[in-house]
Amino acid sequence: MDMNQPIGATPLDGKPDGLVGRPIDRIDGRLKVTGRAPYAYETRDLKNPAYGFLVEAGIAKGRIRSLDVSAAKRAPGVLLVMTHENVPEQGEKKEQVTPQLQGPEIRFHGQPIAFVVAQSFEQARAAAALVKAEYDAEKPQASLKAARPTAVEPKPAQTPPDSTLGDFDGAFAGAPVKLDVEYTTPVQIHAQMEPHATIASWETGPDGDRVTLYTANQMLNRGQASLASVLKLKPENVRLVSHYIGGGFGSKLQPQPEAILSALASKSLKRPVKVALTRQQEFHVATHRTDTIQRIRLGADENGRLTAIAHESWSATAPGDVFYETSAVVTRSLYAAQNRLTRHRLANLNVPIASAMRAPGEAVGQLAFECAMDELAEQLKIDPIELRIRNEPEQDPEKKVPFSTRQLVACMREGAKRFGWDKRGATGATRDGQWLVGMGMAAASRLNPLMPSQAGVRLNPDGTLTVRMAMTDIGTGTYTILAQIAGEMMGLPVERIRVEIGDTAYPKAAGSGGSFGAGSAGSALYVACDNLRQALLQNAGMTPEGAVFADGRVVSGNRSEALTDLAGAQGVEAKGEIKPGAMKERYSQHSFGAHFAEVGVDRDTGEIRLRRMLGVFTGGRILNLKTARSQALGGMIFGIGAALMEAAETDTRYGYFVNHDLAEYHVPAHADVPAIDAVFLPELDDKANPLKSKGLGEVSICGAGAALANAVYNATGLRIRDYPLTLDKVL
Ligand code: MOS
Repeated sequence: MDMNQPIGATPLDGKPDGLVGRPIDRIDGRLKVTGRAPYAYETRDLKNPAYGFLVEAGIAKGRIRSLDVSAAKRAPGVLLVMTHENVPEQGEKKEQVTPQLQGPEIRFHGQPIAFVVAQSFEQARAAAALVKAEYDAEKPQASLKAARPTAVEPKPAQTPPDSTLGDFDGAFAGAPVKLDVEYTTPVQIHAQMEPHATIASWETGPDGDRVTLYTANQMLNRGQASLASVLKLKPENVRLVSHYIGGGFGSKLQPQPEAILSALASKSLKRPVKVALTRQQEFHVATHRTDTIQRIRLGADENGRLTAIAHESWSATAPGDVFYETSAVVTRSLYAAQNRLTRHRLANLNVPIASAMRAPGEAVGQLAFECAMDELAEQLKIDPIELRIRNEPEQDPEKKVPFSTRQLVACMREGAKRFGWDKRGATGATRDGQWLVGMGMAAASRLNPLMPSQAGVRLNPDGTLTVRMAMTDIGTGTYTILAQIAGEMMGLPVERIRVEIGDTAYPKAAGSGGSFGAGSAGSALYVACDNLRQALLQNAGMTPEGAVFADGRVVSGNRSEALTDLAGAQGVEAKGEIKPGAMKERYSQHSFGAHFAEVGVDRDTGEIRLRRMLGVFTGGRILNLKTARSQALGGMIFGIGAALMEAAETDTRYGYFVNHDLAEYHVPAHADVPAIDAVFLPELDDKANPLKSKGLGEVSICGAGAALANAVYNATGLRIRDYPLTLDKVL
């Protein structure tokens, strides 16, 4: 099914007490909390693995002069020391997946320079410490601020890096009210709980070489294609298995070096090789979110109507890489104004490779832009919500097409009511003992993409249903919502649905990323179930019109049949597929929301404590209220981290992140997260997909941190434009 027209009535509609939407517990929850859900590193399916340990470059720029591996090779238990001198031949880089150990050239600190494999993990780690590298080091360039003037226009990815509409310069120059500000956001680390890990097994058979990787990966089919390119194998000879994944946030969108190295080592040793990155290695070997510099210029009339909007963003990545942070893309669709400009520039620096991290672009874009809107509201003496309402566009202001749905104003109004926005005091006016107290809000908007996805279903003779697709569950609840969709479509309880995902042996699926996972994979499953319904009705000679699947039976006209009977002795199978179509171009599709935060700022120490927080979101049909709310809370907590604590500090002399562990890279802990809540407004988006759902994983981080920063301003009158808002910047 191609999404070429709006979706009409479906079997999911008009069922307030249906299975879809119900806040049921995760069906994989018990396995996870009892330790019976094997993550990549823990699988026992591949026997007798050897253990790998990765060696990182100790400089950020230069050449390896000599690499002495003799002591490492002689160390107990060592089976292989792989370097650029003996690494098997590799193919082409694809989708940021890069051939490893390609020579003595060093482009960034942490670039893998050797891979040591031994009988045990401890032996591999000990031997890795014996690898001695000598370098001809050069002075690295690692400061985005310093490189800003030389940053270049990046290659277009999904969207062009620049956009212009009308005459920004003229309109800005003539605007009676102006704002011209710069915000900076730091390097952020995904810090997902499960580190990158792979067990690879390379086999040489009569029909050529093949490799199986049990690996922590969000998008298996994309990973399969890129690994096939790097490993010089046919895609069908690369199998990725990822049944359980301990978080991703974008860091597992593509295979990381450990996957390539374990596959190559397995090829050399003819034995499975397992490896996990250490937490410290996660910071340099795996990817991060780049720091950004963002300049925002707003021109408005005295009534607060925007006439000119410019949002420019600078970001950085390693030499030879093309990823840039699309900070200003969301600004193209957020508020009305006739004259507009967005621009992105990229600097290639001797820093580790930057990539997508939760709501890439929007998350940091709205950290800046939603504060700029607050600044403009302050300047105009207009309530921040009112300012946004006055600039609500009737259609997408740059694409000039309607929004599929847009309930931003409704989210702000509902949030204001629930949060008690009318109690917000003037700047610096509210005290609670030693605490200066303030409230802030911010809008949230995030693109809603649909990705091609396929699914297979099989009604088994025992009346259970098997669902298969190469989809992943990165902790978001995919297993559960897929069971709910299939259960509702077929009239079966979730206990009778077997969801089998996380294996490229199954039909190709979107994977988890960009908030497209649930909608894309869920829609493919919806189509597969719809096809199965038709097949069952046809086989039974029953009329499809008005047929109802419920309680393990199908009723149509005066006939009622049990699914166990219709399954026959062999079972019945069906497939489904979803693809984006004309709806993607004819409508501007976004999820929306509004964040509200109340903070206290210690008058003496400058310490900022979040006191309470609320998010109100719209994401089309909610597939499971519990997992959706968990996603939203998780995104908001990400926003708390971005606002108050998260920053990987680059030592620009050496091009590395100084605080490269979770003791010193601070993420919010329970004590940092007080009373927070997330609610959803009713919505169905018939332009999005057959489920009428939209992405939820990322809209909830968009703007979240800005609400805190705006609350800090309301509490103190201090406008801090350099994230995170640590106490040294308050004092
Ligand atoms: Mo998300 S950054 O697309 O996993």
